[in-house]
Amino acid sequence: MSNRTFTMIKPDATRKGNTGAILEMINNGGFRIAAMKMVHLSKEKAGEFYAVHKERPFYGELVDFMSSGPITAAILEKDNAVDDFRKLIGATNPAQAEEGTIRKKFAASIGENAIHGSDSDENAKIEGDFFFSKLEQF
Ligand code: CMP
Repeated sequence: MSNRTFTMIKPDATRKGNTGAILEMINNGGFRIAAMKMVHLSKEKAGEFYAVHKERPFYGELVDFMSSGPITAAILEKDNAVDDFRKLIGATNPAQAEEGTIRKKFAASIGENAIHGSDSDENAKIEGDFFFSKLEQF
């Protein structure tokens, strides 16, 4: 079990001005910010990040949405980070997200779902390294 995960506050949450409130929930959830920056992904970079979903019917929509405006990318640290963060953000589909989760509060739909969280320790490392050099991870 690793103690780090990776997150992106997505373009819908950025547009609605929810970045600060989401970061407060992350902070209150006991996560330490080990790296953070705002980025506007190109279509190419968004496609590369989500390449694992290339064959899915929603891939084009996902890439268009994730390159539609700035995101906030961060590496977060806490014991059991991957699982605890997925609990904090709630189900991918906000209609199924539990009360008190970030997606329940801020997500509009399965596509525009406010925030991303890594699904495994292995992917957390790959995704964190996609955005941050070693010099930018603290
Ligand atoms: P995320 O956790 O960032 O990982 C993959 C993303 O694909 C997921 O959040 C959703 O935003 C998106 N996604 C999953 N299923 C669908 C779908 N049926 N339609 C549109 N987007 C989807």
